[in-house]
Amino acid sequence: MDSIKQAIELARGASTAPRQTASANFRTSLPQGGAPEAPVRDMRLDPNHLDANRIVAHGASGQSGRYYDMLRTQVLQEMDKNSWQFLAVTSPTAGCGKTVTACNLAMSIARLPERPVMLVDLDLRKPTIANYLGLDGTGGVLNVLEGRTSLSSAALQARVGPNSLVVLPGSVPSPNASEWMASQAMAMLLEAIKRDFRSRIVIFDLPPMLLADDVISILPRMDAMLLIAGVGSTSVADLKECQKHLQGTPVARVVVNKVTETTDSYCYGYY
Ligand SMILES: Nc1ncnc2c1ncn2[C@@H]1O[C@H](COP(=O)(O)OP(=O)(O)OP(=O)(O)O)[C@@H](O)[C@H]1O
Ligand SMILES: [Mg+2]
Repeated sequence: MDSIKQAIELARGASTAPRQTASANFRTSLPQGGAPEAPVRDMRLDPNHLDANRIVAHGASGQSGRYYDMLRTQVLQEMDKNSWQFLAVTSPTAGCGKTVTACNLAMSIARLPERPVMLVDLDLRKPTIANYLGLDGTGGVLNVLEGRTSLSSAALQARVGPNSLVVLPGSVPSPNASEWMASQAMAMLLEAIKRDFRSRIVIFDLPPMLLADDVISILPRMDAMLLIAGVGSTSVADLKECQKHLQGTPVARVVVNKVTETTDSYCYGYY
C-alpha cells in the first residue's frame, strides 16, 4: 500500500477515533565561472524563540526532537537513494503543520555532520519561516524574484548552537503568488539555487495544495514531496484530491501531524 493510501486509511480511522501515529532582470549570486558564494548575512538564532514556536529539532533532547530525527533519516535515505535535492513540503489544506515540520526537518538535518541543508520559504501567500525562526523581515525571496536583490544577499546563514543552515526567508505576502510560482523568474531562481547550493538538500515550505494552483505550478520542478496531513482535520476527500494533482512527483513520506492536548503534544507518524 502506498503512503497516500495509508494516510487515507488513517484519516478514515481518525473520523471516529483520532489516532496518534506514527524576470529578465533576475540576478543570481554566482559570478561567471566562479565558485558558489556563501550567503552574505550571518545570524544567530535564539533557542528560546525557536522552542516557543515548536521548532525543537535544533537540539538532540526531547521526544519531539527525536521524532523529527527519525523523519530526517527516512527522508534522507529516500533522497540519497534517488539522488534528489529538492523536497517540497505541502499539505492538502491550511494549518496542518507544514512550516513547523519544514523548519524542524531542516534543523534536524543541520545537526548531522557534513549534511548541508537549505530552507526556502516558497509560501508567497503567507510567508512564516522568518517569524518562526525569529529572523528580521529584510531580504526575502520576493525581492530576488523581482530582481531587487541577489540570491546570496537574500539568503542567510542561520546559526543555532554549533550548527548552521542556509535560509532563504519570505517577507511580505504577495498578491500575485500564483503568477510568481509559474514565472520564468521562479524557474531561474530554482536553477540558481540548484547551482549555487548544489551540495545542499533544499527544503521548500509551500502553501496548501488545494488552496490555489501555486503548488501544482511548482511541483514539476521539485524532486519529491513531503505531504503533511492533519489527523482529524485532513479528510479522505482532501487526500484523494491531492493524489490527482501529484503529476508524477514522488511522495517521499506522508507525515500525519496532530495537535493534541496530551502531555507530549507532538503526535505524528510517517508513511
Ligand atoms: N506536531 C504539532 N503539534 C502541535 N502543534 C503543532 C504541530 N505542528 C504544528 N503545530 C501548530 O499548528 C499551527 C500551524 O502550524 P504551521 O504554521 O506549521 O502550519 P502550516 O501548515 O504551515 O499552516 P499554513 O497552511 O497556514 O501555512 C501552529 O500554531 C503550530 O504551532
Ligand atoms: Mg505554513
